[in-house]
Amino acid sequence: MKALCWLLFLVISSHSINNAFVSASIRRQLGQTNEPQSLTDIFNIEVNVDVHLHFPNLRLKKAYFALQEWKKVIHSDPHNMIKNWDGIDVCSYNGVVCAKSPDDPSISTVAGIDLNRGDIEGQLPPQLGLLTDLSMFHINTNKFSGNIPNTFSNLAILNEFDISNNQFAGTFPNVVLYMPKLKYLDIRFNNFQGLLPPQLFDKDLDAIFLNNNRFSSNIPENLGNSNASVIVFANNELKGCIPKSIGQMANLDEVIFANNQLSGCLPKELGLLHNIKVLDLSNNDFVGCIPHELGNLKGVEKIDISHNQLIGSVVDVICTLPKLVSFRFKDNYFNGLEKKCEKLVKPGLALDHRLNCLPHKPDQKHEVQCLPVVNRHIDCESVGCYKPEGKPDQESKRKKPPNDNDRGARGSIWIGFRT
Ligand SMILES: *[C@@H]1O[C@H](CO)[C@@H](O)[C@H](O)[C@H]1NC(C)=O
Repeated sequence: MKALCWLLFLVISSHSINNAFVSASIRRQLGQTNEPQSLTDIFNIEVNVDVHLHFPNLRLKKAYFALQEWKKVIHSDPHNMIKNWDGIDVCSYNGVVCAKSPDDPSISTVAGIDLNRGDIEGQLPPQLGLLTDLSMFHINTNKFSGNIPNTFSNLAILNEFDISNNQFAGTFPNVVLYMPKLKYLDIRFNNFQGLLPPQLFDKDLDAIFLNNNRFSSNIPENLGNSNASVIVFANNELKGCIPKSIGQMANLDEVIFANNQLSGCLPKELGLLHNIKVLDLSNNDFVGCIPHELGNLKGVEKIDISHNQLIGSVVDVICTLPKLVSFRFKDNYFNGLEKKCEKLVKPGLALDHRLNCLPHKPDQKHEVQCLPVVNRHIDCESVGCYKPEGKPDQESKRKKPPNDNDRGARGSIWIGFRT
């Protein structure tokens, strides 16, 4: 029924668009091809743009057509972001940035779209794939919905793709895997769900923001292939272990796993992340002891392992790390605190001991809760992605959907969204 409505919609709305476009669209929407579409295949610009309009160059003419098509599928523009999107001078449109074309400096073309914080409701039409000189596409904090057209794979020099804080849904937008020059991928705060594709980590990206969606797969085993410096998985429903390949990620500066359903032991390979500054593993179902290898992270500034089911002692090798300014471990099952952790290592590095099983400390878990867990024998070499049954606070840590009130009010700048 849904597919049929789509077809009717396409047929009815296609008066001004030629047949090649319609059939290609239908094929694409029916998922009969995953190949990047050829633009000449999806429409013929000459029949769509008034012959009496004269443009400085063909690319600006294409841009005019693409932006006018976009305007047609924008239903609400409360801040008048696109109010001046009329006439042939697309470079004067609000949110459109022109620059010299990289392959022909004698002409100016559209190099960027920046419609952040527009609260705009609408979709992204396939014609946006005509903006082949785009190097950045920023539409964060709007109400765009639907999917990302496959024609975006024609954006051959797109470097930054930021669609965060919108209402895009469906599975992971695979089209981003076909953007050849993409470095910065930001799809956080949408309604994407399902699997994370392994190809994501074989792509030469520098920053990957996936947080606050509903991804529910394992983290692919090839994670370690990525050269990214920042990866944020937080606030999804990801399961399974942290892949051991993470140890290969020499460029990794920050990685945030917070608030998922990850399980098993913390891999000792985390100790190989020599460039890591922020390591956030909080609010998952990790078990076992703190791996001593974390003591190799000489540059780490922030470690958060709170709200897991870790046992054993909070170890000196972490508490004495030279750059550490924040170490959170509350709400686990630790029953020991090594000597240097006991005394504050540095002024200002206040340790929050609460909700563990530490003898002689206030605000600990009840003995009845502690006993069965602190004595649990966990052999990390064989435990696999062991997940303890019936974690008591499973419900309370469920992610809330983003709403206006908590936007930007999060602890980490990465878990908030970009401005
Ligand atoms: C990471 O960088 C290395 C060295 O530059 C390169 O050979 C490799 O292909 C890159 N990996 C990815 C996934 O981009």
